[in-house]
Amino acid sequence: MKKLIVSLVLAQAFLISNAVAEDKKGQEIFESKGCAICHKSDIDTIGPSLKTIATHYLGKERDLLSYLKGQGTPIVDPARASAMDPQLIKIRSLFEDEMKALAEYIVSADDRPF
Ligand code: HEC
Repeated sequence: MKKLIVSLVLAQAFLISNAVAEDKKGQEIFESKGCAICHKSDIDTIGPSLKTIATHYLGKERDLLSYLKGQGTPIVDPARASAMDPQLIKIRSLFEDEMKALAEYIVSADDRPF
């Protein structure tokens, strides 16, 4: 029984550290591609804040992934969607797992402590 508990705890710790690593990778991409210039954590500036974007996309991570791949429809501020066209081109060459990490990072803004 003790062994089982220990391995469950370890498995849990592994899952958490994995999630944290994903979040970090997403953040690195977000910063290195210049997204952070227009998107701040919790205040709308040139672009909507990560928090604003996250509230629109929470539970719709697949839609966000499609959007980032240039295959989706903008839902946050569609009237200004053209501002994102050159940005989406910048991330077109990301691998699938990098796209996912980026999407994860964006939606996790809703529960990230600031
Ligand atoms: C030059 C400023 C600027 C930069 C740089 C920028 N964005 Fe944006 N972004 C905007 C504006 C303005 C909007 C609002 C338009 C909209 O919501 O469609 C927006 C909207 C978005 C949205 C919401 C789209 C929706 O559904 O409406 C996402 C997601 C997003 N940006 C991600 C990114 C990512 C990822 C990067 C980096 C590759 C990035 N942005 C870089 C200005 C910028």
